Amino acid sequence: MICIAIANQKGGVGKTTTAINLATGLAATGLRVLLVDLDPQGNASTGLGVYQADRTRSSYDLLVGNCELDEAVVTTRVPKLDLIPATQDLSGAEIELIDYEQRTHRLERVLAEAPAGRWDICLIDCPPSLGLLTVNAMVAAQSLLVPLQCEFFALEGLSQLLQTVERIRSRFNTGLSILGVALTMYDRRNRLTDQVADDVRAVLGNLVFTTVIPRNVRLSEAPSHGVPALIYDFRCSGSEAYMRLARELIARLPRQEVAA
Ligand SMILES: Nc1ncnc2c1ncn2[C@@H]1O[C@H](COP(=O)(O)OP(=O)(O)OP(=O)(O)O)[C@@H](O)[C@H]1O
Ligand SMILES: [Mg+2]
Repeated sequence: MICIAIANQKGGVGKTTTAINLATGLAATGLRVLLVDLDPQGNASTGLGVYQADRTRSSYDLLVGNCELDEAVVTTRVPKLDLIPATQDLSGAEIELIDYEQRTHRLERVLAEAPAGRWDICLIDCPPSLGLLTVNAMVAAQSLLVPLQCEFFALEGLSQLLQTVERIRSRFNTGLSILGVALTMYDRRNRLTDQVADDVRAVLGNLVFTTVIPRNVRLSEAPSHGVPALIYDFRCSGSEAYMRLARELIARLPRQEVAA
């Protein structure tokens, strides 16, 4: 199982929207996908229609060792997509875990319990910070997908993110790579977003996915219905873009990692 963390410490850049719809797009290609909601806000869980009452076990319980992986996994309405939901308990985890042995490796240990062949790919939706939760995701993951919003300050904060990646690489996870940067909320009527997209490509080159996620109201409506946009309206521009991103991502994965 290849594990990809979706991270950017900036808030509201499209991490969760990307996690939900990319996971759905990957599942639609036939891959068995596990999505880990690692954000106390629990937006990925809500957006997939897994509401509070159904979150009897969560990513928090797994991190602190309250339950086994299997007990925390819930199925979603999307075929081949399973979820480990998040609850607000997770907001205390950063502090609680300080006393734990190997606190940076908790998630890695949890995911190592996954039965061989149960899932092909695991996506982790990170909170908007570079704290212990995101560090756990980066330690557990082989690669990182960074959503970057097409706005003036897009590149600000990226160097801090890259420094964190470098630190994780040198201390905990030498194999951690950046799979790609996905430009989100692109508005073709706005010249500034065009300029930002060009600037980001000039700086990051091939690291940036060719697929750009447009600003699309259907993407923001879908979560309130508890389904991915790809199910809410599979023909909208946002859904089509996430489907393309899923294919582009698969093409970037090392072949032996994904057997499908
Ligand atoms: N391409 C898009 N078009 C229109 N709205 C979008 C798009 N992507 C995300 N949004 C909306 O923007 C808001 C922020 O998106 P999202 O929750 O995915 O970001 P995030 O990075 O996960 O936020 P946080 O840092 O709080 O976890 C949400 O209301 C979402 O519906
Ligand atoms: Mg989010």
